[in-house]
Amino acid sequence: MKPDMKVALAGIEFSNPVIAASGTFGYGIEFEEIVSLERLGGFVTKGISLEPMAGHPAPRIVQTAAGMLNAIGLQNIGVKELLEKKLPALRRYPGCKVIVNVFGYTVDEYIGVIEQLNQGEGIAAYELNVSCPNVHCGGMTFGADADSLADLVERAKKAARRPLIVKLSPNVTSIALMAQVSAEAGADALSVVNTFRGMSIDPETRRPRLSHVTGGLSGPAIKPIALRMVYETAKSVSIPILGMGGIVTAEDAVEFLLAGAAAVQVGTASYADPRATERLAKELENWCRSHQVERVASLTGGVMA
Ligand SMILES: Cc1cc2nc3c(=O)[nH]c(=O)nc-3n(C[C@H](O)[C@H](O)[C@H](O)COP(=O)(O)O)c2cc1C
Repeated sequence: MKPDMKVALAGIEFSNPVIAASGTFGYGIEFEEIVSLERLGGFVTKGISLEPMAGHPAPRIVQTAAGMLNAIGLQNIGVKELLEKKLPALRRYPGCKVIVNVFGYTVDEYIGVIEQLNQGEGIAAYELNVSCPNVHCGGMTFGADADSLADLVERAKKAARRPLIVKLSPNVTSIALMAQVSAEAGADALSVVNTFRGMSIDPETRRPRLSHVTGGLSGPAIKPIALRMVYETAKSVSIPILGMGGIVTAEDAVEFLLAGAAAVQVGTASYADPRATERLAKELENWCRSHQVERVASLTGGVMA
């Protein structure tokens, strides 16, 4: 029996629940020689701003025990180049859904990016990045304050002609509150979670290992905390969740689905193995087959807690 791997969320149908996470898969097209894009449910672009951004100076990535710290500083090509150069090339892979991660320093900047994206083709949804820990304003400053978050999501939802996914920050006291605020303001789905703020110091030089001093921690090190946050989010809202944080194996993905996620995203694992997303999509299907799971969607929220 071949399991049914399709999942639907926010009105979008994905061929399977494995999606490459923002910032770890470029603009998708760079991976076409490495990964069969059609075998993924989809991918999320790097955070896109109105104008191109250079990001922070190196060093921007540091390996840690069971994870990595990054402070890229949202280097990206800007919305115009995404629309003109990257999206047209991706039309060769219609089965792989493209989600564009949207970033701004102000509400108007977020809206400006969304309005331009509305004119483009080949985009399934927008993922609002209100959770980047590596910029001084914008990003997490919205995601960590309930009133600012509500205002941004409400305005973004009004502007967006496509489903709006809000990517929450884990650097908050109550993820459930931020999830409820986003849902009430009109979010169609939630991505849970972005990276956790962290730091690394070189004892020899006594200097921080990242030029930005602090960065975002990702990878297996964060998995149990991210999983708990997906579980708490699922209990507090009824909109679908895309779960992520340290997923490397099919079993990791199943844990996130059982905790309440309708789909999963895979980020840091692609740094260790650039084929990780495609491998995971296959392994998840094998897991379903060997466990007599006929529909992967039936796993969502199945934890017996
Ligand atoms: C190098 C790097 C860059 C990232 N850039 C973005 C970004 O631009 N926008 C965003 O919303 N998340 C970004 N993230 C966060 C990931 O999409 C993901 O939420 C996080 O890394 C947790 O998943 P993981 O443990 O599988 O990597 C980035 C992560 C890494 C490691």
